[in-house]
Amino acid sequence: MLRRAWQGGAVLIGAAGAWTTWDLLQPLPTTGFGGTVRAVPEDSVPEDSVLEVRAARAYLTRIDGDVVAISEKCTHLGCRVPWCDSSKQFECPCHGSVFNRAGERRAGPAPRGMDRYPVEIGGDGLVYIDTGSKIEGPPSGSKETIDEPPAGSSCAAEGA
Ligand code: FES
Repeated sequence: MLRRAWQGGAVLIGAAGAWTTWDLLQPLPTTGFGGTVRAVPEDSVPEDSVLEVRAARAYLTRIDGDVVAISEKCTHLGCRVPWCDSSKQFECPCHGSVFNRAGERRAGPAPRGMDRYPVEIGGDGLVYIDTGSKIEGPPSGSKETIDEPPAGSSCAAEGA
């Protein structure tokens, strides 16, 4: 009887060790930058401007009604590219690259348009940005997919 108790205990310890090892090897859910970021309600994403989501280091906008997430990192040397409200385009303060609202390159040394992230609209109506899966921006010289010329003066010209 004592022998069976020892055998049962050894089996339990082995099972606990196997479960612990399996549990430790599971990938951790990532919910910050580098993983999926829960952003804002879909209906708050603007049509003619952008909404910055700091946690995702990205901007949300709509292109032909679809929600699009654009990385705020310049494809030249990685500066954060701010949105300019007066010109309605992205203007990199480091070396002057300019991108339209869709992130397509208009001017400057950037080798391509701004990168994007896949987005999903959850069942809760929120936008989820997958910052772990970057989509390369369109190459320089690509035809712009939106017809939105600069709306006003450049923020760089204003010194803003
Ligand atoms: S880092 Fe943006 S233009 Fe150089």
